[in-house]
This record gives sequence, C-alpha cells and structure tokens, in this order.
Amino acid sequence: MTAPDLSRRQLLGVAGATVTGACLLTACVEPRATPQDDASEVAARGKGTRVAALADVKVGAATAVDLDGHALLLTRPAEREVHLFSSICPHAGCKVAPADGELDCPCHGSRFALADGAVLGGPAPSPLAEIPVEIQGDAVVLAG
Ligand code: FES
Repeated sequence: MTAPDLSRRQLLGVAGATVTGACLLTACVEPRATPQDDASEVAARGKGTRVAALADVKVGAATAVDLDGHALLLTRPAEREVHLFSSICPHAGCKVAPADGELDCPCHGSRFALADGAVLGGPAPSPLAEIPVEIQGDAVVLAG
C-alpha cells in the first residue's frame, strides 16, 4: 500500500503508533533541569530567603525541603553546620533522598556525603549541586 492509498484515518493511526513507540523507547520523560541550573534558580531567590527551621533537621541527618517547587536536601553534619543541595542526581537526574547518615539515589545506587555532597559510591560523576545557606537564629536561610 502506498501513501496515496491510505485514508486520513489510517495515516493518523500510523502517526499515533509511531509516537507511542517513541514514548515507549524514551519513557516519555519530561526533561529536567540540570543540577547546577536547579541550584542557580534556588540561589537566585536571594540572600536571606528562609529555607527551613533549624529544628527541622537533626544533627547528623538530612531532610527533604521544598522551596517554590524545587526539591532540595537540607543536611546538618554538625550542630551549627548546615548545607543545602539540589536533589537532582548528577548521574541521570533521579531524585536523591535522605538516608541513614548520607544521601542516596534510588535509581542506580549513587550515595552522597552530608557535609559536601561528595560521591561516596555509585555511578554519579560529580557531587550534588550545593546552594549556599547559613543559620540565622532558629532558621536556615540562603546565604549571599
Ligand atoms: S540517577 Fe542517580 S545513580 Fe543514576
């Protein structure tokens, strides 16, 4: 059958099947920001922007925080030391999550340090993207 022999309905069916096939191959994943772009967008909110209460994260642990739709990881390696990271994994963009004394990616097993986002294991090629923060009173805020 040649193209001129196909009805409009048949052509639409072929086109739909082609799109569906492409989605199956790529899982129709929405493109996500890079870790660095994500961190830059958060930092652009400006010095002093409140991220969380200091009490929201225990010493030696991490917690997930949302800042204007950005999924972030707030860590507290020591009493008066906090860090904020983009949760976008530098390997393939999955969402890194708090784990027992570290940050873990559920997709391929990359693991990151609380204190600097350094790669502890797995295929991630670089550390998590950090956003500067500081403690002001009982709050964690973006630093300048
Ligand atoms: S996407 Fe995180 S380890 Fe692959």
